[in-house]
Amino acid sequence: MSKERKIIILENGPYLVEGNIPLAEKINVLEGRRLHKFIDGRLLPQAETYRLCRCGHTTTPPFCDGSHVAINFDGTETASTASYRERAKALEGPNLTMLDDNRCALSKFCHRKKGTAWSLTLSSNYEDCREEAIHAASDCPTGRLVALDEAGNEIENSYEPSIDIMQEPLVGVSGGIFVKGGIPLFSESGKIYQVRNRYVLCRCGKSYNKPFCDAIHISAGYLDQKPVKEKKGLFRKKK
Ligand code: FES
Repeated sequence: MSKERKIIILENGPYLVEGNIPLAEKINVLEGRRLHKFIDGRLLPQAETYRLCRCGHTTTPPFCDGSHVAINFDGTETASTASYRERAKALEGPNLTMLDDNRCALSKFCHRKKGTAWSLTLSSNYEDCREEAIHAASDCPTGRLVALDEAGNEIENSYEPSIDIMQEPLVGVSGGIFVKGGIPLFSESGKIYQVRNRYVLCRCGKSYNKPFCDAIHISAGYLDQKPVKEKKGLFRKKK
């Protein structure tokens, strides 16, 4: 019988994933000029239990190979354990409220053809803008943005519990770990973070908001595959 689905952060080590959670690679691409979407990447092995690298130094990405010990990885968790509603600020549009906790992976799903999640919320008296604002908020992998319906309920995409390893070829780097479908996350001390439908974990090891991604993988130039540019043609050459 499968164990309960969960992710446990090991002290200065990897994420221990239990419960036979499907694992995939997803590549963030542009559809048109401003609309982002994920397409399937490489097939990854599936297992009842596995360990995902958290330090960014593994030679067997996305899995841990023990490199965290050799590099003396400091994985101290610095993120707030307050709930999303406690941390988020509300943007009130004419026909939509959107919450924003500023926890960003710079994946740009908040950018739509007609505008950004914020500008669309402020134009939500137009039904097409309201619909686009809801997509812009609910497609954001980090869960930073959440649109609320008239009753104040969160509008969320429906996800099966699963984990996606993100690749960001548009900016020439690898991204974080997109966790979907309400998978509980336990800190190294055993505390549980608020269970959410979507969040992104850091795997470059450099986030200032561990365990969550704060987009520093972009300025750090984090790449999990070498030489991915030659092998897959996914990544732009750096100037
Ligand atoms: S993977 Fe995004 S900050 Fe580390």
